[in-house]
Amino acid sequence: MEKFVINGGKSLHGKVHISGAKNAAVAILPAVLLSEETCVIENLPNISDVNAILYVLKELGAKIRYLDKGTVEIDPTNVNSHIVSKQMAEDMRASSYFLGALLGRMNKARVAPPGGCDFGVRPIDQHIKGFEALGAKMSFESGMVDGKAFALKGASIYLDVVSVGATVNIMLAAVKAQGLTVIENAAREPHIVDLANFLNSMGANIMGAGTGVIKIRGVEKLHGTVYSIIPDQIEAGTYMTAVVATGGEVLIDNVIPKHLESISAKLKETGAEIEEYDEALLIKMSTRPKKCNVKTMPHPGFPTDMQPQIATLLAIAGGTSIVTEGVWDNRFRYVEQLTLMGADVQVDGKSAVITGVDCLKGAPVKAVDLRAGAAMIIAGLMAKGITEVEDIVYIDRGYENVVEKFTALGADIKRIPIIEPRHIIVKNA
Ligand code: EPU
Repeated sequence: MEKFVINGGKSLHGKVHISGAKNAAVAILPAVLLSEETCVIENLPNISDVNAILYVLKELGAKIRYLDKGTVEIDPTNVNSHIVSKQMAEDMRASSYFLGALLGRMNKARVAPPGGCDFGVRPIDQHIKGFEALGAKMSFESGMVDGKAFALKGASIYLDVVSVGATVNIMLAAVKAQGLTVIENAAREPHIVDLANFLNSMGANIMGAGTGVIKIRGVEKLHGTVYSIIPDQIEAGTYMTAVVATGGEVLIDNVIPKHLESISAKLKETGAEIEEYDEALLIKMSTRPKKCNVKTMPHPGFPTDMQPQIATLLAIAGGTSIVTEGVWDNRFRYVEQLTLMGADVQVDGKSAVITGVDCLKGAPVKAVDLRAGAAMIIAGLMAKGITEVEDIVYIDRGYENVVEKFTALGADIKRIPIIEPRHIIVKNA
């Protein structure tokens, strides 16, 4: 067990390189199962969610070879298992993508229900509705989700809620189904477009990714490919928010500025100056942040995965801000931790009313989930004194080299082991 120890109050300066996108990687890796040949995936972030997906692929029978930092060769030709056990699936949400990928590969899948961060109820009814529309028989047996089909056939599927996971899973199952599949009210996130580009690079026929209507014409076979994953929009947004919170000037390198528009717009409202380049952003902040209201929405709205980070920044803004969560039922569990540091936040249902205080004070806090953990790092960086963040396994799920990256920007942050009382040797007792 480890924790982060942060000595706050230092502004950030320099350049940070953004890693490959977690939520694209965790969709693209299972999609390799649909190929008849070896694939090479580049720009993979070294984070525990990606390593967990690679582990599942290996357990299913794929051969995995690390070619270079961030580059992995995956040979799926010998995969013949369709079972992803509870032990393999329970820690992450993206394990559900093996349902779509295995149904698409071998018309059968048996996958334990997915885990992932706790934001209230996280149903998969829209995934199941999609698979059933394609002709699969779905059931829940002995705690596993079971899917079987004689042959998958294209269908028109309207999603009742805009769901990233359901859109990904239906794309995976439909790409080799017979005929045309149309997903209406589809998610439009950058990682949906990245998955479509990856599948098309293997010979799939997918049109409309990035819009609300995705059309997939089934093909018989997919071939191997070499594909580089897009930069992580949320990792970039997290570093941008940290710069606005602490003050300073940082070049956020290896990004697609278009993917960051909603985040840049809100940070500019708080007083940040942002210059856009082809594959980088320069962000500068030299004053106390101004208040602003934020509502999270599916893409191209402000991403829910940036909600805890921006709410933390607004805890020291001049004035009162309202942050409204428009995607998840319960994504304010971290507020309790923030108040331990002196923040003034009142949560009322899906909104948080944040009255800016002059500064936060360092305290022992916990990462209650991945992005909440990133928010605690930001809180620690801008607070006076020492902040200790526990339960950092959540942060390691999605942020590559977070200590090294913040240290290079001038932050005082260390990862240290937690010594349990039973591990302390008492001499002469
Ligand atoms: N929903 C349903 N039924 C379904 C699926 C979703 O009602 O069958 C609802 C959910 O309860 C939620 C909304 O639809 O209210 C959106 O859920 P979605 O399916 O889009 O979320 P997800 O696929 O489970 C992905 C990301 C999350 C991110 C959300 C929203 C991955 C692996 N996870 O989750 O990322 O918050 O989309 O953008 O892509 C993170 O990276 O920290 C993270 C939690």
